[in-house]
Amino acid sequence: MVEKIPISFRKEVSEIPSTTYGTFAIYKYPAKFIPQVIAFVIKKYAKPGMKIFDPFAGYGTVGVVSKAYGYNYIMWDLNPIINLIHDVATIDEIKLNVSVLLKDIRDSQKKFIPEWSNLDYWFPKEFLPMLSKAWGYVYSLPKKQHQVLLIPLLKVTRYFSYSDEKVHKLYKSKHSKEKVNNLLKNDWREEFYRRLGKEINLLVKRVEEYSHLNHKQVESTIESGKDIFDLKLNQKVDILVTSPPYLQAQEYIRSTKLELFWLGYKENQIKGLSKKEIPYRQVERIKIYSPTYHIYRDKIKEPHLIELYERYFHSILKIFTDLGENVKRYMCIFVGPAKIRNFSIPIDDIVIEHLQKFGWNHRVTYIDTIVSRNMFQSKINPASGLEDERIKTENLVVLERIN
Ligand SMILES: C[S@@+](CC[C@H](N)C(=O)[O-])C[C@H]1O[C@@H](n2cnc3c(N)ncnc32)[C@H](O)[C@@H]1O
Repeated sequence: MVEKIPISFRKEVSEIPSTTYGTFAIYKYPAKFIPQVIAFVIKKYAKPGMKIFDPFAGYGTVGVVSKAYGYNYIMWDLNPIINLIHDVATIDEIKLNVSVLLKDIRDSQKKFIPEWSNLDYWFPKEFLPMLSKAWGYVYSLPKKQHQVLLIPLLKVTRYFSYSDEKVHKLYKSKHSKEKVNNLLKNDWREEFYRRLGKEINLLVKRVEEYSHLNHKQVESTIESGKDIFDLKLNQKVDILVTSPPYLQAQEYIRSTKLELFWLGYKENQIKGLSKKEIPYRQVERIKIYSPTYHIYRDKIKEPHLIELYERYFHSILKIFTDLGENVKRYMCIFVGPAKIRNFSIPIDDIVIEHLQKFGWNHRVTYIDTIVSRNMFQSKINPASGLEDERIKTENLVVLERIN
């Protein structure tokens, strides 16, 4: 019998005092790892000199944590926002005079407007000249200087839009319309600069906090904005640790669309990325060795849910099988027990059963209880249209290569 061990990753790693410590949460990203999960894997399974790899890296938590512990890393993600978050989250220090900077922005004549046909739907016309000026000024600075300002500016830009802060997806709600109306009734220009200053100071503090973890000089590679099916891992890595996309509607590109437009991406680029997201795209069929996969497949009746289910597993199982060939020691896969209709799908068992055919031994599954994760806030499951029960636990499956 393989062990299933209850765990609280947060409690296991005392040197990271909270999930938002340092630069581990400088920007919201759906389904982001808490840093303690990666720190736990590294402390338990990594040996000095090993290389860590996350093929679905999202925010890039694996990189930020690996650097703190002195491990080289490789990260991939479809979402190009990873580069910005990673580069800022692992920066050595930020030197800025915030009041001079805010004055320079106010006085600036520079302009930047994203090429987004829906811009007027997401921003009241009153705010656009001010936003355009701030972005124009920031982009006029040399890259090293402008990069550290992008995250504070993105946060404030999102606040000054009709998007609902509480929802990951870009969504105009009653609450967010009220937010904009309240801003318009008051001195919103002052509020904009006040918030921008506050966000810059917060980032400076976070970077300083991260430096207390004594992060090391390590080698890192990031492949972003590319579909995982187009990438090849052309070197050996020691540990793969990742959380694959979720089975049910978690549209990562759509969630960061507003950000991508202001970062200069064009409509066709963003649409192109959205179309590649797992599980919303066509995939090559593979032979699936998990009996559990087939049992659950036969329980689903609705054609669109069958399609979702099949696309999901054909995608992630193919990826883990192929990438596994270049993983020397461990694959650590973090999954939530998602639901389709009213039954839970044991993603972890399906992954284990399939990979056992390819020389992987199931060593242990750690079971953590989710304390609070934004991604589960939506009550209606968009895949089924039914009310969703909250996922209560997440499982870290540890597979070890059989020599
Ligand atoms: C569960 S999230 C990973 C979150 C990450 N663990 C973190 O700490 O932020 C899954 C990721 O898979 C990515 N993804 C989805 N489809 C993809 C594809 N076809 N190619 C590459 N990445 C993809 C999404 O952009 C998303 O960032």
